[in-house]
Amino acid sequence: MIGHWPVLFLLLCPVLQAQQVAVNDKVTGILGQDVSLPCAFITSDTSMRLTQIMWSKNGTNVATFSPLHGPHIQDTSHYQQDPTPTSTTLKIISLRASDEGEYVCEVTIFPGGNRRGSTYLSIKAEPKISAEAVPAMAGEQEVPVAKCASANGRPLSQITWRSTLPGNFENTVTNNSDGTYTVLSVYRTVPTWTVNGQQVVCSVNYEATETNLPVDLYVQFHPVVNIEGYDDNWYLKRTGASLTCNAQGNPPPTVYTWKTANGSPLPSNVKAKENVLYVDEVDERINTTIVCEVTNALGSRASQQAVLVRDKPNPSGAGATGGIIGGIIASIVAIAVIVTLIMIFRQQRKNQTAEDEELDEPPAYKPPPPSLKLQEDKLPQIKGEELLPLKEPVSEQQIEIKDLEMSPPKYWSTTGSQHTPPLDDDYLEQINPIYNEFIPPESDSHKDDQGFVMSPAVYV
Ligand SMILES: *[C@@H]1O[C@H](CO)[C@@H](O)[C@H](O)[C@H]1NC(C)=O
Ligand SMILES: *[C@@H]1O[C@H](CO)[C@@H](O)[C@H](O)[C@H]1NC(C)=O
Ligand SMILES: *[C@@H]1O[C@H](CO)[C@@H](O)[C@H](O)[C@H]1NC(C)=O
Repeated sequence: MIGHWPVLFLLLCPVLQAQQVAVNDKVTGILGQDVSLPCAFITSDTSMRLTQIMWSKNGTNVATFSPLHGPHIQDTSHYQQDPTPTSTTLKIISLRASDEGEYVCEVTIFPGGNRRGSTYLSIKAEPKISAEAVPAMAGEQEVPVAKCASANGRPLSQITWRSTLPGNFENTVTNNSDGTYTVLSVYRTVPTWTVNGQQVVCSVNYEATETNLPVDLYVQFHPVVNIEGYDDNWYLKRTGASLTCNAQGNPPPTVYTWKTANGSPLPSNVKAKENVLYVDEVDERINTTIVCEVTNALGSRASQQAVLVRDKPNPSGAGATGGIIGGIIASIVAIAVIVTLIMIFRQQRKNQTAEDEELDEPPAYKPPPPSLKLQEDKLPQIKGEELLPLKEPVSEQQIEIKDLEMSPPKYWSTTGSQHTPPLDDDYLEQINPIYNEFIPPESDSHKDDQGFVMSPAVYV
């Protein structure tokens, strides 16, 4: 008898298929919008009669339709139905997150009992995504420099950052009362002045879709000053000498002031024009230390150049540039000579060996080992630095992000003042500590909260 079961099943199958409750397995609704869940009873058996069709959620009746008694809904402000004699479509008005779940459509037929079908309704909300720089003041402490948000989304978004800067980020998730989530991510790094203008990328992943938002960082910093143009070859009667004061700053520098380190006025044979100091003809009066002071909206910083006036042109070539070029040429010549010597040496040894062993074949030439010249190929390649994903945030917690407080910059005031000429506060601010960032500080004790370092040598 058991062998007949498949046959029986096949015979029953068309009957089962002919009577079914047609519903969607899954429906996605958008928060705040409406959604329709259709349910139809399909049968080819004309003797079957539908007596009731009912939608319920989690065991609670939501909407009922009976051909005999008509439609019935408990909460008409939230549900509607659109019945026909063999179907009813449940319409949910202004979706809430709590509407998410399984909806069961149960059809009562006579004769034959009940049939059910179910639809899973999920509620989504597209998040509002944004990213922006958090203006920072240059300093040594890690501070927030960018933030990124995925607001009022459902389901939850994931936020990560990509950056070539060392830094980290923290994400905060807020469960909103409407069932959406707001993710706020704050990217932190040490705001050195070189961080200004660099880019970090916030990457928001919502429903397997990645959105990348680049952020240009904004760091305010005092002028960073650097004097160029002194070639250690300023001799008496030389014409056309000049110094150029290069400065960066955010906000951009506005004022360039040239002066002497000892406070005496600039000699009359020099002309200061913006960031360039022109010297008509070099004489003893310019045999001093020249200072360029640069001011932006944050304050002033200075750099200085000691000028040595020589009686005669510097014999060691046309200054530092000439020296460097000469050095490079000398190195190339030296390498060429070494390579040639190695080649000759090898060739001779080869010939010697060939003669000793009395080989019939002519000695094959072998190139010298790729020693000196090829070394530069082995240098590590730094270009094309990849944007690396950052480490995961430590935790996603329910914390409130406090408003950023930017403390006004503090200035290190000198304690050992034996080298310091009397300075008022305003003047102290103008002393340039940043220039020393180019030079490794000799002592760590001269550090202030801002991380600037200065030594008495740069006092203006
Ligand atoms: C479903 O109903 C039960 C009680 O009948 C309740 O405890 C549960 O929280 C409900 N679930 C949802 C998702 O509404
Ligand atoms: C916030 O929502 C997440 C995901 O649904 C849940 O795991 C977490 O417990 C919720 N937190 C609070 C405080 O309700
Ligand atoms: C410039 O000053 C240095 C000492 O600082 C001195 O040795 C040199 O002779 C001076 N040059 C001229 C041209 O006076």
